Amino acid sequence: MGGHILSVAIVSGSGGLVGSEASQRFAAAGYDVVGIDNDMRRLFFGADASTLWNVDRLERSIGSGYWHFSVDIRNREAVRDVFRIYGREVEVVVHAAAQPSRDWGEREPSTDFAVNALGTLNLLEATREFAPEASFIFTSTSKVYGDAPNSLPLIELDTRYDIESGNRYHAGIREDMSIDACHHGVFGASKAAADLMVQEYGRSFGLNTVCFRTGTLAGKHQSATSHHGLLSYLMRCVISGTHFTVYGYKGKQVRDLMHASDLVTAFIEYSKNPRPAEVYNIGGGRKISFSIVEAIDRVQALTGKQMNWSYLSVMRAGDAIWWIGDSSKFETHYPKWVLTRNLDMIFEEVHEMNVDRWSEAT
Ligand SMILES: NC(=O)c1ccc[n+]([C@@H]2O[C@H](COP(=O)([O-])OP(=O)(O)OC[C@H]3O[C@@H](n4cnc5c(N)ncnc54)[C@H](O)[C@@H]3O)[C@@H](O)[C@H]2O)c1
Repeated sequence: MGGHILSVAIVSGSGGLVGSEASQRFAAAGYDVVGIDNDMRRLFFGADASTLWNVDRLERSIGSGYWHFSVDIRNREAVRDVFRIYGREVEVVVHAAAQPSRDWGEREPSTDFAVNALGTLNLLEATREFAPEASFIFTSTSKVYGDAPNSLPLIELDTRYDIESGNRYHAGIREDMSIDACHHGVFGASKAAADLMVQEYGRSFGLNTVCFRTGTLAGKHQSATSHHGLLSYLMRCVISGTHFTVYGYKGKQVRDLMHASDLVTAFIEYSKNPRPAEVYNIGGGRKISFSIVEAIDRVQALTGKQMNWSYLSVMRAGDAIWWIGDSSKFETHYPKWVLTRNLDMIFEEVHEMNVDRWSEAT
C-alpha cells in the first residue's frame, strides 16, 4: 500500500450477486476494494449455493486491487479489525451480506436476526468509529413493507395480479407506504430492523446512510437455490428438468425485476453526492416486471423446453401478492441514473449463465 492515500470501498457479501457486482464496478471506478464474505450462503443453502467461486473470480479479475477477508459480520471485533486497517481511507461501505431468504429465516430466527440486524449494526458502528465520512449503502428489500401491499385494491388478470388504475400506487409503491403493523415474516422483520438502524445512524450520527429497497434482482453472478434467486433457479429447473413448485395466488403474484448492475450504478451515483438517512424504493417498475406464470412461459420459450412444475394452493404468510416499486424519488435526486437492461435482456443473460452450468444434468 506504500504510503499513498487510497480510496477504499468496503463491500460486505462480496461473493454474492450484489456484492460481487459492486466490487467489480467500484474497482473499475478506481477504488481499492476490500471484500468481506465468509461463504455463509453455503451454510444457509448447501454446496450448490457457495459463493467461493465468485470470490475467486474477483481475485483473478480485479487482482491486486481486491483484498478479501473471510470475516463473519456477526463478529463485531473482527469487523472493527478490518475497518481499523483502512480507517478514513474508506470512502464507501456497501453492505450486501445477508441471510436473504424468507423461508430460511423461519427455520432459524436467531441466526437470521444476528446476521441481518446485528451484522448491520456491527458495520454501522465500525463505520462511525473509523470512517464517519463514508457513504454507507445498505441493500434493504421490498420485504420491509411485509404484506402491506396486499391491502391495495388488487385485480386479477389472465396471467397476473394488478392494482386498480386510479390507485395512488398504480405506477409503483412509494416510500410513504407504512412498514408498520403488517406481517413481515422473520426475514422481513430482521431486514426492517436493519433498515431502521441504517436510517438512525444517518439521523442520530450524521452518517451518509442510504437504504435501497429492491424487488427481485438478477444477474450473471448469482449462486441460485430453491430458496433464493428466483429467476436463475427457474432457469436452472427448466434446463436440468428439475421440478418447480409454485406456491399460491395461481402463480399470478407480481415482482419487478432489476439487473444487479443497474442497482450498483445507483450506489455509485449516491456515493458521488450522498444524502444522510435516505430511503429509496428502486427497481424495474411496471415495465420490467413479471408474474411467476409469465416467467415460466418466458423460460420455456427461451430454452425450447417444457417446465416440470406443479401448483400448491398454499399462501405464504407475509408475502406480497404484488410488488412493483416506484423509483421516481431516486430518479429525482439522481437524474443521471437510468435502467440499462430490459426484461428480455435480463432473461437472456440469466439463460446464458445457466445453460453452461446445468445442461449436463439433463
Ligand atoms: N437477490 C435479490 O433478489 C434481492 C432482492 C431484494 C433484496 N436483496 C438484498 O440484497 C442483499 C444482497 O443480496 P444478494 O442476492 O447479493 O445475496 P447473496 O446471498 O447472493 O449474497 C450475500 C453474501 O453474503 C455472505 N454472507 C452471509 N452471511 C454472512 C456473514 N455472517 N458474514 C459475512 N458474509 C456473509 C454470503 O456468503 C453471500 O456471499 C441482501 O441483503 C438481500 O436481502 C436481494
